[in-house]
Amino acid sequence: MPDGLCARTYAKLNLTLEVLRRREDGYHDLSSVVHTIGLADELRVAEASQLTCWVEGLSLTDEENLVLRAARLLQREAGIGSGASIRLRKAIPVAAGLGGGSSDAASALVLLSRLWGVHMSHQHLVDLAARLGSDVPFFLRGGAAVMSGRGDTLMPLPALGTQWFVVLVPRHTVVHKTALLYESLADEDFADGTATHRLATSLRDRGCIDEALLRNSFARAARASFPSLRGLWPAAERLCSRPLHLSGAGPALFALARDRTDARAAATRLASLGQPVYVARSVSTGRSPRKMPYP
Ligand code: C5P
Repeated sequence: MPDGLCARTYAKLNLTLEVLRRREDGYHDLSSVVHTIGLADELRVAEASQLTCWVEGLSLTDEENLVLRAARLLQREAGIGSGASIRLRKAIPVAAGLGGGSSDAASALVLLSRLWGVHMSHQHLVDLAARLGSDVPFFLRGGAAVMSGRGDTLMPLPALGTQWFVVLVPRHTVVHKTALLYESLADEDFADGTATHRLATSLRDRGCIDEALLRNSFARAARASFPSLRGLWPAAERLCSRPLHLSGAGPALFALARDRTDARAAATRLASLGQPVYVARSVSTGRSPRKMPYP
């Protein structure tokens, strides 16, 4: 039996996501309070001579597979000759605004560094993560943070104690969703970062979410790009008698719940919409180890 490592790798919610401006390099500067939640994929790595990656629950090309790209990047940067057998079990909905692919990539960097005995500074790992995607660096540590720049500049925040969420994930078929949504932003969608700044202050000072401060620059563009959202969003708000908020570039929507019982009751009502619904609580890390024999 080869030596292996296994981790649950967490999704995120953007409590705020304010897009500030377009940049010369084609990206956008943003300001976002982001928090990991207990909805998780499972990643296992084990020693092997070749590098292989098996994804359960999803079919991906090698180019689309961020875990494989993370593994190859680390191999190259650290001059690693050996391979690894990687298994990814998907539970986080893909291309939903929950950061699943980015979280998997960050966890691949962390687990493979350990497996291969790579001693890289945290900053070097952050640089590799940023080359894989704008929000991959956040998932190296997870918890709560203010993301700025193109998403790769992070200011840690104290993680929430226990905040329960209910998450509704409308199915969609939009390709290159993130790029498309950024391109669809109109002048009126840009923000100045005040809400993010104020939410960060309230998380630091009071340790809880001031719901009045939650906002997302993609709200209008997401309604235009995901036609089903136009009906689902207000219907979901009516069903669970509370506002729902967009995460990332969508289409995932989340609502705050008082406790687990309240979250489950809201999820039961939302299930009548016929779209996947999840109950999750805030977590304070990017991943947690799983003791599990390989494979
Ligand atoms: O960095 P990532 O690969 O996740 O970005 C996907 C696409 O989203 C980019 O190619 C870019 O078009 C857009 N994007 C952006 N500004 C950001 C992050 C992403 O315009 N801060």
